[in-house]
Amino acid sequence: MQAILEKYVSVSTDKVKNWVCAGPVDLYPDDGGKCFKYKGKQIAIFSFSRRNKWYACQNLCPHKFEMVLSRGMTGDAMGEPKVACPLHKANFSLETGKHLNGDLPSIATYPVEVRDGTVYIGMMD
Ligand code: FES
Repeated sequence: MQAILEKYVSVSTDKVKNWVCAGPVDLYPDDGGKCFKYKGKQIAIFSFSRRNKWYACQNLCPHKFEMVLSRGMTGDAMGEPKVACPLHKANFSLETGKHLNGDLPSIATYPVEVRDGTVYIGMMD
């Protein structure tokens, strides 16, 4: 299981080598997420309309290793944008990936840009 987690490494904007097209913005539900597959990875991309922001993170929940985070509910934890896993409600920061209500490993997060109505995620490969 650890090997699956190791596939997912957070990417900061200054480390981006490749802005990957993840489709038009209208593919994504308001205040909801969708799974995008890239090079064997599943990335959860969220249109956080209430904040007028976009976020991306690994789709894999590190609790039971289920690919479910894209179906999680987005929200706010003391000003921090978060996603709640739809299975057992582990909450993760969409900015840092930190598990906010426990001590699970952090999830990987990725930068998102929207240009001309198209969503791009920043990857290192
Ligand atoms: S599988 Fe995500 S909290 Fe249990």
